[in-house]
Amino acid sequence: MDNRVRIFDTTLRDGEQSPGASMNVEEKIMVAKQLAKLGVDVIEAGFAFSSPGDFEAVRRVAQEVEGPVVCSLARAKPEDIDSAWGALKGAPRPRIHTFISTSDIHLKHQFRLTRKEALKRAVEMVERARGYVEDVEFSAMDASRTEPEYLYEVIEAAIGAGASTINIPDTVGYALPQPFGELIKGIRENVGNIGKAMISVHCHNDLGLAVANSLAAVVNGARQVECTINGIGERAGNCSLEEIVMILRTRKDLLGLDTSINTEQIYPASRLVSGITGIMVQPNKAIVGDNAFAHESGIHQDGLLKDKTTYEIMRPESVGISRSKLVLGKHSGRHAFKTRLSELGYDITGEGLDKAFERFKKLADKKKEVFDEDIEAIVQDEVLRLDLTERYKLVKLNVRSGTDTPPTAEAVLEVDGKTVSEEGHGDGPVDAAYNTIAKITGTKSTLLKYSVNAITGGTDAQGEVSVRLKEGEHTVLGQGSHTDIIVASAKAYINALNRLEYKKKERKENLIL
Ligand code: KIV
Ligand code: ZN
Repeated sequence: MDNRVRIFDTTLRDGEQSPGASMNVEEKIMVAKQLAKLGVDVIEAGFAFSSPGDFEAVRRVAQEVEGPVVCSLARAKPEDIDSAWGALKGAPRPRIHTFISTSDIHLKHQFRLTRKEALKRAVEMVERARGYVEDVEFSAMDASRTEPEYLYEVIEAAIGAGASTINIPDTVGYALPQPFGELIKGIRENVGNIGKAMISVHCHNDLGLAVANSLAAVVNGARQVECTINGIGERAGNCSLEEIVMILRTRKDLLGLDTSINTEQIYPASRLVSGITGIMVQPNKAIVGDNAFAHESGIHQDGLLKDKTTYEIMRPESVGISRSKLVLGKHSGRHAFKTRLSELGYDITGEGLDKAFERFKKLADKKKEVFDEDIEAIVQDEVLRLDLTERYKLVKLNVRSGTDTPPTAEAVLEVDGKTVSEEGHGDGPVDAAYNTIAKITGTKSTLLKYSVNAITGGTDAQGEVSVRLKEGEHTVLGQGSHTDIIVASAKAYINALNRLEYKKKERKENLIL
């Protein structure tokens, strides 16, 4: 059996289902290009039928990103399959990924279908998709809670109808490694035509077992793993790409399996996705967390100085983390700046590069050293966030506060191109600024979370503010950075308000996956 495990990245689809993680089309293109550099086999670019924004994202990724197969998700419904094809046509390597639930729990309580009806729909929709493309993937949603005999029957029928990849999702993260591995083995032994398809797995992390379950599956014959950068995704997330890839690479000696991933692009991909989605990576996260290669104990440091292999099972450079961080300063030129951006996963040219470079120069004048984190914050602020529906733009903000001064803010915003000014008060300077912005925009949103972080050390560091807003069914994250944290706070709030507008416009159907 082939020992290459295919990496199917669903950061742009399942990953985007993380609460508050919506990405706009430009951001998705940027992530997709980085995924291509990383060498993933398949990019699931979205769910074309779910919204015009997703349709456009799938269409653009299919047109603009070279290398991987580009895929759209589609429920087992004619309109979904047709829409997936509408977005994918023109792609050099298109795939339609259609799915239906197979567990009795889902069929009875959610879809109100009999087993026979679900099987018939699966066959009809795989056939419909095959009418458009050769490469069709079928997922038996909630497979891990499906009665195995029925699962075998559905898989056999889907392969008979033309599916070349059969995906076995642990949709609710309920599986345990050993039984999940046995399920994959059972499929290989009991589905007559399984030799005509590749087995894939898609594990959720509700019990923290997504990676372990995916590993058990590949050991038992699955050859595609569906995963996301930083493990983001619905609820507790999906199998983390960097973890499964580095397990296979590091323990190839024992497992005899590997992927085609260019592992040096892992860290840039992780930073890019966390920067764009605003979902931070926990410091102790394997492979890409801040502490993943930080050795604190004296004994460990002593060993490392003598020989790296004493306490390091992987080299940080192998995942794209450089030991000697290149620091830029005010004498760094445009070329050095652009090169560093590209190493960090941002291929920016033209007006975006001009703006980012101008801001970098201003920052370098204020700060002695400009670190990678500063550069990433600049790109987020100056390039990426501009592509949202910018209903609101910050023109000016002045805030007075202190031990004897009641906090007061004067803000000027551009609202749909018109300039509006207001003055407002609050408990503190941030509250005063937010009350004033709320007065101008008339927002009905509630602030769920506000947090501020220093991007690097020192009192001259940029502050990065993250906010989470909720309005009705929509929750969004907003971010802003500046050396003045009140300005950073205002930028984060306005970014979130713009994202809210974007979400309201792009309101997705309430599709439950
Ligand atoms: O979790 C799941 O079952 C899914 C399917 C649509 C593959 O995301
Ligand atoms: Zn999923």
